Amino acid sequence: MVSRTIPVETFDLVLFGATGDLARRKILPSLYRRFHAGQVPEDARIIGAARSDLTDDAFRKDIRAAIDEFVSKAKRDGPTIDAFVERCSYIAIDAKGDGGWSELKSAVRDEAIKAFYFSVAPSLFGPLAAKLRENGIACENSRLVVEKPFGTDLETAKTLNADLAASFDEHQIYRIDHFLGKETVQNLMAVRFANVLFEPLWNERYIDHVQITVAETVGVGGRGSYYDTSGAMRDMVQNHLMQLLCLTAMEPPTRFDPDMLRDEKLKVIKALDPVPAEDVVRGQYKADGKEPSYREDAENEDSLTESFVALKVGISNWRWKHTPFYLRTGKRMTRRLSEIVVQFKETPHSIFERDGGSKANALTIRLQPDEGMDLSVTIKEPGPGGMRLVNVPLDMTFADALGAEDEIPDAYERLIMDVIRGNQTLFMRGDEVEAAWAWTDPIIDAWEERRDRPHAYAQGSVGPEEALMLLHRDGRRWRDLEGGS
Ligand code: BG6
Repeated sequence: MVSRTIPVETFDLVLFGATGDLARRKILPSLYRRFHAGQVPEDARIIGAARSDLTDDAFRKDIRAAIDEFVSKAKRDGPTIDAFVERCSYIAIDAKGDGGWSELKSAVRDEAIKAFYFSVAPSLFGPLAAKLRENGIACENSRLVVEKPFGTDLETAKTLNADLAASFDEHQIYRIDHFLGKETVQNLMAVRFANVLFEPLWNERYIDHVQITVAETVGVGGRGSYYDTSGAMRDMVQNHLMQLLCLTAMEPPTRFDPDMLRDEKLKVIKALDPVPAEDVVRGQYKADGKEPSYREDAENEDSLTESFVALKVGISNWRWKHTPFYLRTGKRMTRRLSEIVVQFKETPHSIFERDGGSKANALTIRLQPDEGMDLSVTIKEPGPGGMRLVNVPLDMTFADALGAEDEIPDAYERLIMDVIRGNQTLFMRGDEVEAAWAWTDPIIDAWEERRDRPHAYAQGSVGPEEALMLLHRDGRRWRDLEGGS
């Protein structure tokens, strides 16, 4: 694979929430990897900011530990790590008070691109943005990066948007949905819009339905108190699965331009049908002897929060009117797998009498693991015995196809560099987030009103039985999570 690491302009990145879990697991290791790849200029500055009192040295020590834990051995070399941590410093800042702001003002350079990364609770977004403005730290070449959750419903999202808009312009705000930074998600756009093969078939005439699955094996232990106020619908569907749906369903934008692309995604969200109660299945994992149940993990024995959700979603536009999109996501499922399956229709008429194994074509886009795609094609089984048909995958694992010697970059690496480059293509615009909540809210409100208990499902399973029924009743079935068809 040809490496195309083009260094970005020099920058000062101020990481609020620098001692938090996301900073340790994702943001700092990703910055290090880009530094190791030669993309981060030697004079870039990374300034950690958080409430606790830390010396620069203690912060650097934490960064070394994070690199040790989360960066692969091949990329951990002493001199590069030394040079990287040399770029990092720390300022204790009081988000709502005065402490630390003047130090921060003198720590950032006027001439460098300034990125303020809010890896903090959303309740601090507004106060931090205001402090940056009031203290004259933010300017025209500043960028603001905010992490999810971006609100818990339409109203809170609107408030957050208004709070940020009071201090920053929309073109300066980068709302992260890290799924958009995943290589295969970007590849979905390449497959659709850089090939002539699929687009003519990409509509309700030829596509029977689409399945989007994001299955995880982890539970919510460790972050149960946050998760219990969120649930799979808010944590995964409103953002990650919604983005996958949008990129699969949207019209081709006229150009690969951030706003043109986001305009097309927004149109999809606005075309989503309301989801009736019978088209949603919620689940909660139960205890399995060794492992605690969802309720134990969440430390809430009456919890009605879902750790699994499956939905049938209709899109009311010309392209998709009769093609349902089935979405499912859950914790503690049988395996970690994220994929989009585009299931084509059967041929209108079969000329083969005995076509035993023949099935309609399906295009599977695998986000993780084994990033790649496969297209199932029906062919004749070799040898005598008549026209015996079988389905075989035209399989392409990106790492093999592109000869990637190296691991596929983490989504955060791409996204942080895009912030510095000033490219908003893979970030959510304010109106898009609000539209996603406007669609999600009535579904959640209906549950809260009914106070239904989610269906229990076994850990290591594919979710509750009822989720299988969601497709069975339409004469369809979910793709086997173990990788079969
Ligand atoms: C996060 C969710 O946004 O995405 C988590 O809050 C989830 O609950 C995670 O586990 C999944 O991301 P990834 O990149 O591990 O698939």
